[in-house]
Amino acid sequence: MCGIVGAVAQRNVVPILLEGLQRLEYRGYDSAGLVVGHDAKLTRVVSTGRVAELTLKTAATQGQIGIAHTRWATHGVPSERNAHPHMSNDLIAVVHNGIIENYEVLRIRLTAGGYVFTSDTDTEVIAHLIHSHYALGNSLLEATQAALAELVGAYAIGVIAADNPDQLVCARRGSPLLLGVGIGEYLVASDVSALLPVTRNVVYLEEGDVVELGRSGYRIFDAGGRCVERAVQVSELSNESVELGEYRHYMQKEIHEQPQALADTLESVCNSQSLVPGIFGAEAAATFADIDSILILACGTSYHAGLVAKFWLEEIAGIPCSVEIASEYRYRISVPNPKTLVTVVSQSGETADTQAALNYAKSLGHIHTLAICNVPESALVRLCKLRMLTRAGPEIGVASTKAFTTQLAALFLLTLVLAKQRGRLTVSQEQQHLHELRHLPAAVQKVLEMEPLIARLAEQFADKHHALFLGRGLHYPIALEGALKLKEISYIHAEAYPAGELKHGPLALVDEDMPVISVAPNDALLEKLKSNLQEVRARGGELYVFADADTHIRAADGIHIMQMPEHAGYLSPILHTIPLQLLAYYVALQKGTDVDKPRNLAKSVTVE
Ligand code: M6R
Repeated sequence: MCGIVGAVAQRNVVPILLEGLQRLEYRGYDSAGLVVGHDAKLTRVVSTGRVAELTLKTAATQGQIGIAHTRWATHGVPSERNAHPHMSNDLIAVVHNGIIENYEVLRIRLTAGGYVFTSDTDTEVIAHLIHSHYALGNSLLEATQAALAELVGAYAIGVIAADNPDQLVCARRGSPLLLGVGIGEYLVASDVSALLPVTRNVVYLEEGDVVELGRSGYRIFDAGGRCVERAVQVSELSNESVELGEYRHYMQKEIHEQPQALADTLESVCNSQSLVPGIFGAEAAATFADIDSILILACGTSYHAGLVAKFWLEEIAGIPCSVEIASEYRYRISVPNPKTLVTVVSQSGETADTQAALNYAKSLGHIHTLAICNVPESALVRLCKLRMLTRAGPEIGVASTKAFTTQLAALFLLTLVLAKQRGRLTVSQEQQHLHELRHLPAAVQKVLEMEPLIARLAEQFADKHHALFLGRGLHYPIALEGALKLKEISYIHAEAYPAGELKHGPLALVDEDMPVISVAPNDALLEKLKSNLQEVRARGGELYVFADADTHIRAADGIHIMQMPEHAGYLSPILHTIPLQLLAYYVALQKGTDVDKPRNLAKSVTVE
């Protein structure tokens, strides 16, 4: 987490840094700060609030070189003293995203060497380390390289020095960082959205790269210290895609972008008459022919997408599938099977646990790897042999919405491609699935029309402290996702259960104060679900049921029915997700929480 932006230019960089920070604020928002160089001295301005508060404090700040940071606290509470940039002896300033694992040892050593620490962060050791090498007469680049050689952990950093107004040094290992190439000005940032106000020309850095930027150009050194060229690419991201437009919150915007996001993700498939493995990469056909099982690794919402996919993959493609929470898998002794397709699912492609789980799987001998991801240049995409990019566009709200439904679409395509390759799909079944996929964006659009109804329903949750979500089969993960959305942004304690499991314990929780939200598609488990709902009602539980039109579940005292426009067969989990996202959103509005930046969270979890 944490967002970094830096710039060296022929104009005042403060507005560039602040605009960049605003756009990176989704990565962390405990505090923000910047340092600019001017007249051979560094000026540091920090704030414990949001970037808007930092902006107020920087009205008189100027400089043609600077680095800035928005923080998600790991080491040390959110406070001004822990806010980045961190300085060493007023000479060196550093911003950092990541975690330095050996910082305690370094801190002891540096303290013994006379360095005084003013924060609780791991980052401050980087500033002092660079200073210690710089003080020996090394250039800023050399001092940074020498310091980095002593660090264990993950970092993306930006460094400037008071007596060097022309150079900014940056580096990455394990955390994202890219360059922005302007005209006579060069930038560095954690993601491309921060660069867009200045330039679309970007250079994605590789693991271990260290870069020296000046006003007339930049030099990149790879992990081995060799000067290397990296391609300048033109980002296709549009400015509008990261702006709020007519919406009140990014989450609301992103919920409404789902029809387009799904259409974009499915575009190549829906425009063709048949499914081909090539959508997962050139080597997909050969890889798919060599696998006998799937292992999905992911966290949070992306894990829920994996849980839905398990149903599809086993039922439609007939291929065994297990789904594991990445942070658990990475520390578990498991039995590797080289014929498994290890599939990582991630919106950001940066999630540290998912990356570590993938690397662990590889270390166990897994050779077949696939990334389903929303960020093309992300670490996970680079680490995998195969890839399918979801085309949700930037997702800014911390609560994942359009990334989830597009992940489901991608996983459904994986299912169909594998089913076809394994001879489990007739031509007419394939055509029927393609037909349903083409209809999906319109079906989602129709569900979005439930918004006013759900906004009214949400009023009934304003005074609730707990909620129970129920689903069965393919829709149990959707209940999990609904509960995660609600707790994440409204802070209501929410749990999800497979409805058949109620009587084995959770039914004890049900009384008139416990709203029970159920996903009720018209599928093979409908009658079983209806019985489970009766069990709830018999104990006084208030039921809120999102039911397909033909389920014949009737509204009654204590039973509120929200009718879904249509039943979408295997794609039903995608449709049933939408009202639960809207419910969480409108309940959060009722509660008055910070919808897009809920407390204690950040968008990309790049630390363990
Ligand atoms: O970027 P990723 O998909 O790898 O992120 C995984 C989780 O951190 C993420 O889905 C998280 O659970 C969301 N905030 C949920 O809305």
